[in-house]
Amino acid sequence: MQKFKKLLYSAVTCAFLFNVNIPANSTEREIKVYSGRHYNTDRGVYKKFADETGIKVRLIEAAGISLIERLRREGKNSQADLILLVDAARITNAAKADLLQPIESSSLEKDVPIGLKDPDKKWYALTRRVRVMVANPKVVDINKINDYTDLANPSLKGKVCLRNRKSPYNQSLVANQIVNKGQQATKTWLNGMISNVSQPFFPGDISIVRAVSKRKCGVGIVNHYYVARMLAGVNGRRDTLYAKKTSVITPNPAHVNISAGGVAKYAINKAEAIELLEFLASPEGSKGLAAPTFEHPLKEVNQNQIVKNFGAFTPDKVTVDDLGSNNSMAIRMMKDAGWD
Ligand SMILES: [Fe+2]
Repeated sequence: MQKFKKLLYSAVTCAFLFNVNIPANSTEREIKVYSGRHYNTDRGVYKKFADETGIKVRLIEAAGISLIERLRREGKNSQADLILLVDAARITNAAKADLLQPIESSSLEKDVPIGLKDPDKKWYALTRRVRVMVANPKVVDINKINDYTDLANPSLKGKVCLRNRKSPYNQSLVANQIVNKGQQATKTWLNGMISNVSQPFFPGDISIVRAVSKRKCGVGIVNHYYVARMLAGVNGRRDTLYAKKTSVITPNPAHVNISAGGVAKYAINKAEAIELLEFLASPEGSKGLAAPTFEHPLKEVNQNQIVKNFGAFTPDKVTVDDLGSNNSMAIRMMKDAGWD
């Protein structure tokens, strides 16, 4: 009897271990997300989705451009189900490169406003970010800077700092101006603004805020949430002090960019990918992504006081699709104007 009990015990133990060791049984649903959104707080939103649906989310993070390259390289063998990218240029380029597939979802159509989704249904915006100007009132007269075009004013000679041409954020801003103001006006703006740049072009938005604060220049262009994160102390005390010495100027209307998602062309778990995308674009999901990163959700405005202090913003009428179609021309015009 003792021997039998022992045998039974090991059988039960084995069965238990066996179950645990099997990575996924046939009924377990999961989804692989390739994300260019590099925020730890996104994980909380995935967890909420996993708890509610029982669908396991496996996350692979990489910078936007390398994610696109990786998808290209992997082709049909890619494990990616859902692709998340920041910036209009990146998501529209992913669609152009045939890395995404069109989907039908009435909930996405309802939750994502017009202008923030692909007319071909391959991608949908999830969060919004405003491209603002950051200025040092001790260096420049902030009352004379209202719009991006003001950075071309000859009085700002040597006082403008810009991020380099590779940044999709600036490519999308230039594309935005091409649509808004036309090619000729954009060319004039670019030539004037670039001739005001005395520093080498910067690698990131945060370094621009620091340079403006340290009076290395008087004004630069950044995404609003970088300043908010610095003010909130996310990057440490020193950056909070830097950001405090600057003023944020929001043009009216303002260029608004997005982070967005689409289902991978060769998604194995397509239904699950659509389900997660729907959750991320829903009022709850979008707010879950945007609130802790100081971005704006799709339909509301971030309620954090730091962001509210930047003032209200009115998005201009340029669609994300338009930004994508003008991306190559924007890069060409930046190059011609000497934007390195
Ligand atoms: Fe960013």
